[in-house]
Amino acid sequence: MKNILSVLCFSLLSGAAFGQTSVLKNTTAIEAVTPLNTPTEIAIIPEPVAIVKNQGHFILPENVTIQCPAMPETKQLLAFLQERISVPTGRYVSVVNNKSATISLSLNEKANHTIGAEGYQLTVTPHHITIKANQPAGLFYGIQSLLQLFPAAIESKEAVDGITWKAPCVEVTDYPRLGWRGLMFDVARHFFTKEEVKQYINAMVRYKYNLLHLHLTDDEGWRIEIKGLPKLTEIGAWSVKKVGEFGNFIPPTADEPRNYGGFYTQEDIKELVQYAKDRFVNIMPEIDVPGHSLATISSYPELSCTPGAENYHVRSGERIMDWSRGAPPTALVDNTLCPANEKVYSFLDTVITQVAALFPFEYIHMGGDEAPFNFWEKNEAIKALMQKEGLKDMHQVQGYFEKRVQKIVASKGKKFIGWDEILDGGLSPSAAVMSWRGMKYGIEAAKKGHEVVMSPSTYAYLDYMQADAITEPRVYASLRLSKAYEFEPVPADVDPKYIKGGQANLWTEQVYNIRQAEYMTWPRGMAIAESVWSPKEKKNWPNFFNRVEQHFKRLDVAETKYAPSVYDPIFKVSRSADKQLLIDLSTEVAGLDIYYSFDNSFPDSFYPKYTEKLTPPKDATMLKVITYRGKTPVGRMMNMPIEELNKRAGRK
Ligand code: ACM
Repeated sequence: MKNILSVLCFSLLSGAAFGQTSVLKNTTAIEAVTPLNTPTEIAIIPEPVAIVKNQGHFILPENVTIQCPAMPETKQLLAFLQERISVPTGRYVSVVNNKSATISLSLNEKANHTIGAEGYQLTVTPHHITIKANQPAGLFYGIQSLLQLFPAAIESKEAVDGITWKAPCVEVTDYPRLGWRGLMFDVARHFFTKEEVKQYINAMVRYKYNLLHLHLTDDEGWRIEIKGLPKLTEIGAWSVKKVGEFGNFIPPTADEPRNYGGFYTQEDIKELVQYAKDRFVNIMPEIDVPGHSLATISSYPELSCTPGAENYHVRSGERIMDWSRGAPPTALVDNTLCPANEKVYSFLDTVITQVAALFPFEYIHMGGDEAPFNFWEKNEAIKALMQKEGLKDMHQVQGYFEKRVQKIVASKGKKFIGWDEILDGGLSPSAAVMSWRGMKYGIEAAKKGHEVVMSPSTYAYLDYMQADAITEPRVYASLRLSKAYEFEPVPADVDPKYIKGGQANLWTEQVYNIRQAEYMTWPRGMAIAESVWSPKEKKNWPNFFNRVEQHFKRLDVAETKYAPSVYDPIFKVSRSADKQLLIDLSTEVAGLDIYYSFDNSFPDSFYPKYTEKLTPPKDATMLKVITYRGKTPVGRMMNMPIEELNKRAGRK
């Protein structure tokens, strides 16, 4: 039994550290924490299509009864709801076949075309809750919205005392804008266990995502058991453990143990697929070829174009690619499968046969991104292939490869999808394209009649930093929450029927553990969820951010990590006419004050408040800043060396 006060104390303490402080409303029956700035008690993410707020509240009775149609597809959602209510509330929750049940879940006998396959209607009155849908998926999403109407303590994994479990009376009609609402989790760069993947799924279903794209293979690891190809997991799944700034690690020596990594057995995959399915999530596997294949080549060197590949090793984060001349990169070590080698296609046939059997989802993602050409260019077999097939350049060589892979995928009854580089060498019209280099290639693909999923790095790359590099783990680009919220997956100038949906991608080069995976995903994952679920007209940044703040409290209770980076100020620098450094500070969120010091002491709300551009005193070496909302610190203490700002502004 956990008392809410201890949860809240923990929250307040951790809030002080992370700037997520909130204030207890001092009522006799202690309610959930309500941050002062969030007047609304309804904070559903993603924002529903329509909500009518009625008078009054529903209060959960001591004995809760649920009525639900008995069918295989509802068994798990019923178990889900029972557990989500009984665990935190400690109430007895039973299933009954009785119209006067506390919570009534029902499937429409006559389909309601407005809400479609995933929509729902949720009604909360003082004594009853009803959720109606056409399909079980809609009931599940209705349950997610319902849970968000209860106090944040509903997210607890243990019973919490002292809560009035009440929900406002509402009528909600809701359905998704798009059918493909994905999150990609890169389990190749760093391996995440089966239980950690389940934890990731648990978090994503709160926000009505319905697709988990698992990036299963890359230079740093092959993560799925393939029967008949044992070296993929005996060799390909293991690297040397390194920490620090991935990408420039000292190359491992021969005597360093290769014991870092792991893989999923086929039984693990079946368990994950079922776990996801029970939560109305499909899992899409990605086998990334022909580039990003060093783990494969380390296991089976004969699949490369490169004599000498017998000495290759799974990457442990050392430099293997030269990007100085842009894309495609120049490989320092050949990490490509050889399109001119028939063994490659029989290898892929074996892999895809088993992958197709394990994952019921209709698409298999075959990668196709960032394949370097420099080893192909030197290869005699590639030259002969080009002559035989009339291929003019390396893009067409990759195009030849993609077409053959697509045929293999289709022969297993699956649809082929790949990263947008697959467009470059000519593509069969039935291939689907995942646009990542901005929206541009998705637009081009849709205009050519391909199905498209938008996952542009400009809005939806969760591996990017969420605030200034001075506080965030360093990656090559930044994407703040407000920018992610601008994601509009359906461009104005294409036929929307080609846009299947949108997705956010979490690459994990710099993500070493599941807590950091969560930190990178939330709250930006909420922004992308709202962009793919909610009506475009209902998107509203200030309103969204108010709801996000309520969800921070929920994630605290759920013990899901998230980034508080949105509270950290934005630094811009310039030079005055007389070459003095000018520091411009702003915030992504309205209503925050920034306090600062140049004297190395820690600023608080008694320090100077930022009002106009700053020029540091002559001998200052450090600018420290922190944001407050009123008297409450919300941002993290940031230490910005003046030297760094001078560098950014360009030397005098
Ligand atoms: C990608 O980000 N290389 C698809």
